[in-house]
Amino acid sequence: MSTPALAAAEAVGLAHRVIRHGPVGSLAEAARARGVAPADVVKTLVVRRGSDDFLFVLVPGDRVISWPKLRGLLGVSRLSMPDSEVARQATGYERGTITPLGSVRPWPVIADERVRGREITLGAGEHGLALAADADEILQALDASVADISDPEITIRSVSEGDRPMLAWLVTELWGSEVVAVRGTSLRPAEMAGFIAEQSGRLVGLLTYQLLGGDTLEIVTLNALDRRRGIGTMLIDAAAAKARRSGCREIRLTTTNDNVDALRFYQRRGFRLAELRPGAVDQARRQKPEIPLVGDYGIPLRDEIDLTLPV
Ligand SMILES: CC(C)(COP(=O)(O)OP(=O)(O)OC[C@H]1O[C@@H](n2cnc3c(N)ncnc32)[C@H](O)[C@@H]1OP(=O)(O)O)[C@@H](O)C(=O)NCCC(=O)NCCS
Repeated sequence: MSTPALAAAEAVGLAHRVIRHGPVGSLAEAARARGVAPADVVKTLVVRRGSDDFLFVLVPGDRVISWPKLRGLLGVSRLSMPDSEVARQATGYERGTITPLGSVRPWPVIADERVRGREITLGAGEHGLALAADADEILQALDASVADISDPEITIRSVSEGDRPMLAWLVTELWGSEVVAVRGTSLRPAEMAGFIAEQSGRLVGLLTYQLLGGDTLEIVTLNALDRRRGIGTMLIDAAAAKARRSGCREIRLTTTNDNVDALRFYQRRGFRLAELRPGAVDQARRQKPEIPLVGDYGIPLRDEIDLTLPV
């Protein structure tokens, strides 16, 4: 059975092989099912440049779009990812099956330069369907521009004992002390369980947590060293998965009244306000005088706010 993608490949005379495989849940599984390395599962992302103005971006499976590089190349300050319905209208394809071949509208294609010079596989417009072809021929058929627009993937791993000395230093850098005050208690995040986000071996994010009473995973600290690249969301997802594996009912965390960015971030990810402790930071400051009087946006730093997320 053909798809618009396979029909388009035929129509432009692209020499290709069709690969059919069963359902896959991750890029690594797709690579195994296609019998290729992860880098050769080339991902197609639809990026929105403006109203009714989209682009296809092709990146190797083991890398991610570099938004700064892509914005720089296109000379724009804003790019976004459309939701799945908008992407479907723009391309005719359901999320997870999108390919520039046979798209209902011929949006420009930009390929990461690392895609060139070998056989690659591309989704062919249906789940479990891919085509393999020479990358340079595909790029020519798509009239693609080629540039450096990707970064290595961000990966998440658990904190290990060897990380402790580095974490002690990092927590002090980020929170002003090795000890953080939460709910009237003092905690040492560098000695707790946690997740580290890494890119090319460099730490780019840290989440620390503790399990409370068997049914709650409490996030003690969360930091993304590079903001707005999805690191915070990946760390929350890792904590939610850990909470589910541990049989917890919810994730809980405490933030402060000035941290408007965090309140936005957490609520956008499904957290609800659960408790307000007026004056809790003023009280903690008596034990820990280095807690500043004024927080983000010049807001007086006074209260603790708890948020929870069912898992
Ligand atoms: C709160 C914090 C952890 C969020 O981390 P982050 O990595 O910036 O979070 P994300 O990138 O996952 O998401 C932030 C926003 O960037 C957007 N974003 C993610 N990737 C993006 C990308 N590549 N391009 C553009 N925007 C992107 C997300 O959609 C999100 O926006 P939304 O909330 O409107 O959906 C981070 O700001 C931080 O470290 N703050 C300081 C410490 C702190 O206050 N911690 C919380 C204490 S309780």
